[in-house]
Amino acid sequence: MDVLTALLLLVHLIPVSAAKNGVSSKSRKRILPEPATEPPVTDPVYEALLYCNIPSVAERSMEGHAPHHFKLVSVHVFIRHGDRYPLYVIPKTKRPEIDCTLVANRKPYHPKLEAFVSHMSKGSGASFESPLNSLPLYPNHPLCEMGELTQTGVVQHLQNGQLLRDIYLKKHKLLPTDWSADQLYLETTGKSRTLQSGLALLYGFLPDFDWKKIYFRHQPSALFCSGSCYCPVRNQYLEKEQRRQYLLRLKNSQLEKTYGEMAKIVDIPTKQLRAANPIDSMLCHFCHNVSFPCTRNGCVDMEHFKVIKTHQIEDEKERREKKLYLGYSLLGAHPILNQTISRMQRATEGRKEELFALYSAHDVTLSPVLSALGLSEARFPRFAARLIFELWQDREKPTEHSVRILYNGIDVTFHTSFCQDHHKRSPKPMCPLENLVRFVKRDMFVALGGSSTNYYDACHREGF
Ligand SMILES: *[C@@H]1O[C@H](CO)[C@@H](O)[C@H](O)[C@H]1NC(C)=O
Ligand SMILES: *[C@@H]1O[C@H](CO)[C@@H](O)[C@H](O)[C@H]1NC(C)=O
Repeated sequence: MDVLTALLLLVHLIPVSAAKNGVSSKSRKRILPEPATEPPVTDPVYEALLYCNIPSVAERSMEGHAPHHFKLVSVHVFIRHGDRYPLYVIPKTKRPEIDCTLVANRKPYHPKLEAFVSHMSKGSGASFESPLNSLPLYPNHPLCEMGELTQTGVVQHLQNGQLLRDIYLKKHKLLPTDWSADQLYLETTGKSRTLQSGLALLYGFLPDFDWKKIYFRHQPSALFCSGSCYCPVRNQYLEKEQRRQYLLRLKNSQLEKTYGEMAKIVDIPTKQLRAANPIDSMLCHFCHNVSFPCTRNGCVDMEHFKVIKTHQIEDEKERREKKLYLGYSLLGAHPILNQTISRMQRATEGRKEELFALYSAHDVTLSPVLSALGLSEARFPRFAARLIFELWQDREKPTEHSVRILYNGIDVTFHTSFCQDHHKRSPKPMCPLENLVRFVKRDMFVALGGSSTNYYDACHREGF
């Protein structure tokens, strides 16, 4: 199947937005599997299309759903940046010609795109912690630079922002009308694609995008571990996980053969080709409907793509089974989860600050958090993926608070390891905040299997 056929097929598979054709979501037939929670099907082309996350596709969203007597207290949003240009080139080939300027007459489009560009082009004043001030505020190169956010990426986050605005601001009135900078907590890594993704989301989200109310903090670590990054045991888990990955690859003779063929086409040693991580570049060709590169020795093609993508899916399966990545994730995600529960606990005390937190991040940020929460069946974070923690207060019992966890609009609360048994043990319709707090403060470390009961001990366990 070529890229075009695959794209068209996808467009036909997706149910039209329920609102548009007047069908209630209940009567809408489920054509696609639940993208967030069901074990991935193993069709590599289908998986790749979900990963592209091409806008215009109708989206399901379960954000903001709670029984009537619950009040929304705070929201914590983790995003992966939107669609970007590859980080690596395939040596000796022409890199894909993708335009990273933002223009109205190119798809995908969003009604707020031009206003976004015009607002950003006026500059920001001092809205960012150093060194974010040196980054461009929106993509603007006729031939994308390496890793640059594309128009697709901007539109994905304008859409995310608008969706969250309709639910959290219009419906649930999360922010007061005279909201101020204190009510937002914004943090991004130092890449232009994450800063720009965060800005696009906020531009879609906020009722008035006023630079005086925006302050982005800089996070040097992709794990968002701030002052708690030093953790030797986490690094040991990662080394073992990388070893597992390497051994699995060696076992896959079809994969080795494919790399060999591709190396011949581009006329470099196989080792060098593999080191250039060609799937990253191939996914860009695929997501943008640009044919794979050719040389006078032949073309990289869809069969190569399928073999590599299929291997990725198998790798993720083994990764879940071997649980080394889980060990890495529990330690890697602890600091950011700890920070999140602290912020939630302050909100339960009635403090009106940091009601909306946004972390603009990477696949290597979201993936460990998902894994640590026990959402091992969740798909690898696609472009513009969003993971959301909602904090709710029961108006009938104001001292009781609950959390909901959503991944790409799907409610995964009762798939998490801290709330999956909740239904069996409790008549309450929502997952209590205490479950999450207990998990982060203690059960995460118990899950590692040693005798450690806190982060420091778990990170320095001897003889691991
Ligand atoms: C993909 O590209 C082909 C030719 O390059 C073009 O004819 C087709 O319309 C494109 N498909 C989509 C879905 O954009
Ligand atoms: C967890 O949060 C508490 C309260 O903010 C803080 O005192 C503690 O140092 C944090 N621990 C880690 C490992 O980040």
